Amino acid sequence: MTERYYLTTPIYYVNARPHLGHAYSTIVCDAIARRKRALGVETWFLTGTDEHGQKIERSAKKAGSTPDEFAAKISAEFSDSWKRLGLTPDDFIRTTEERHKRGVQKLFATLRDRGFIYKGHYTGQYCVSDEAYVDGEPGTVCPDCGRVTETVKEENYFFKLSAFEKPLLDLYERHPEFMQPESVRREVLSFVRGGLKDLSVSRTSFTWGIPVPGDEKHVVYVWLDALANYITALGYGSDDVASKAKFEKFWPANVHLIGKEISRFHCVYWPAFLMAAGIALPHQVRANGWLLFDQSKMSKSRGNVVRAESVADVLGVDALRYFLLREIPFGQDGNFSFDALVQRYNGDLANGYGNLVSRVVNMMHKFFEGVVPDAGTLTEAEEKLHATATATIPEFNRCFDDFDFSGALKCVWSLVADVDGYLTATAPWKKPADRTDADHVALQARVLATAAEAIRVITGLVYPVLPTSAEIVWRQLGQGEIADAVKKNFLKSLAWGGLKAGTKFGEPAPLFPRAEKDTAERMEALEAENNKSAVEAVGGPIEMDDVKVAPAEVAKKIAEPVAKVEAAKPFVAEVASAPVVAATISAPATTEAAAAPVAPVEEKTLITIDDFVKVELRVAQILVAERIPKADKLLRLEVDLGDEKRQILAGIAQYYEPEKLIGRKIIIVANLAPRTMRGLVSHGMLLAASLEGGVPVLAGFHEEVPLGARLK
Ligand code: MSP
Repeated sequence: MTERYYLTTPIYYVNARPHLGHAYSTIVCDAIARRKRALGVETWFLTGTDEHGQKIERSAKKAGSTPDEFAAKISAEFSDSWKRLGLTPDDFIRTTEERHKRGVQKLFATLRDRGFIYKGHYTGQYCVSDEAYVDGEPGTVCPDCGRVTETVKEENYFFKLSAFEKPLLDLYERHPEFMQPESVRREVLSFVRGGLKDLSVSRTSFTWGIPVPGDEKHVVYVWLDALANYITALGYGSDDVASKAKFEKFWPANVHLIGKEISRFHCVYWPAFLMAAGIALPHQVRANGWLLFDQSKMSKSRGNVVRAESVADVLGVDALRYFLLREIPFGQDGNFSFDALVQRYNGDLANGYGNLVSRVVNMMHKFFEGVVPDAGTLTEAEEKLHATATATIPEFNRCFDDFDFSGALKCVWSLVADVDGYLTATAPWKKPADRTDADHVALQARVLATAAEAIRVITGLVYPVLPTSAEIVWRQLGQGEIADAVKKNFLKSLAWGGLKAGTKFGEPAPLFPRAEKDTAERMEALEAENNKSAVEAVGGPIEMDDVKVAPAEVAKKIAEPVAKVEAAKPFVAEVASAPVVAATISAPATTEAAAAPVAPVEEKTLITIDDFVKVELRVAQILVAERIPKADKLLRLEVDLGDEKRQILAGIAQYYEPEKLIGRKIIIVANLAPRTMRGLVSHGMLLAASLEGGVPVLAGFHEEVPLGARLK
């Protein structure tokens, strides 16, 4: 039986135009899908748009449009953009399609029939931007996006999520691979271990959604609606025979590739819904990190987005694909910059692979009229290259299968460098005076046949990442159309030795022309132009209500009431972006300052004792302190509060050696809403004085204090 592989991207909200952040997830899936197909695996690659919910309803209204018109327009921008980028999804689902609606209603009815849905009332906080229920009082800030939540009071249907605490923990234990990377796994585990409450799965205060079957004043909660796309696109809910067969063939998914911020929905809610409905679970949820621009997450509401087209139009789609997969270790956040892109392009593509191909193809034409010669008797140098290339294939495959695309490309580029070095060492273009003509031709034949074979292997390997360039090179190497090779599952048998003597090379064609100095500016200009015309096209930017706040700013926001008390212009130092509440110290008063009349402190900046007691300050002891990979400023602490232990992240890594902190008693804010940083959840903050330059000094005690004691 043919192996099959089903992979999905998240479906994108239609309140934002497609940008590089969205393209990133889709490009990664495209590279995986292309490789699987070329390996002979029957592959289904799904993407699409998430079009229901309060957020979209409001965005449409703001844009002066009806939700369906609005959704159709932006959804088309996504599908057009994927086409322009040459991406190859097998299906593009829109959640407003009939096939999806039918499937969602079937899923809802199944959950209800199996006793996992009951009617109730929800009063609490809701983050419209994330379409997520948030624990807390009115005014609570969403721990994920930093926006202020809204109070919702509605009749709802509830899903018995609480019944799945144990089954989910069992699943995570039995299948550690179910959610990856480890940081996401840890975060989800800690979320579920913290206890699961039943989840409201319908809304009644607006109408833009899929009606609950049999009770149409409710619409299905948008996350239940959206997650179901992974099965409805395959035909779940359809009676049609072909759809049923597709569902049978491809479900369960091999991988749901998602952004790390939506792990909870995919690793907790989705498997719980599926278990409740008696449907098999996906094999894995894989989270990518964020693409940052100017160090913060690329997103429309921050206004720091770059469109994939601006890059693709100037440097080509392959340059973008290569940069995203090579530059960013998958699973981690990565910075995007035009300069870094141009640097990688020139270094690895123009001067690296592109130059290598052009040298060898040109020499083959010049010295052998474009026909591959017999390599003749090989020397140690060729045997070495052969061995390296042979070892590169499984190494590349191992990294790629492990989602380490950067590692996979790195090992291929090390082969590129080896071939380059081999050419330089053998210099087939130059005949030394003491070499006979016959010997020189023999060397040229040996070297060019060997180098061309190495390029063939390299090109096969990089095909999923650089499909357009691989297509060109394949022709130049006289291998015909790469699409035909894919149909013949050429990657399955990719091995050294496939380039036969006598093969006629195609004409040389430019691959990666060197990017000139003004390339970055050209992309920036295109970006500015694109943005301008996009805004004009819809009569204004499509914006959500407020601007997203970075996690660091969320921390600041939470600390604000305290900070404001120091109305007489305190010196407030920011200690990294981590939850350290900085005790503020005023700059030493100068004589003039001391003599100056004290400015009256505005009434509204004061807090009452009742406000203060809301902050639960407690004594804790540090049990574990360790650095977090790739986070220079953060330490992960496990602290003991006497009656409980918890994890806290603190931005003190540049000032405290973790080993020296163990055993130290500190003060923490114990009732702070959890925050996620670097994929880890921080359950509180520690207190420190903040000195000039942001240097923190941990608050502590001279006398013995019991763990957990409250500070009042
Ligand atoms: N509609 C939901 C997902 C439902 S899936 C059943 C959603 N949509 S989204 O449009 O806000 O984001 C979707 C995905 O886009 C993210 O999970 C992520 O994969 C990708 N990205 C959006 N911005 C990104 C970056 N700046 N960087 C990396 N990925 C980004 O959440």
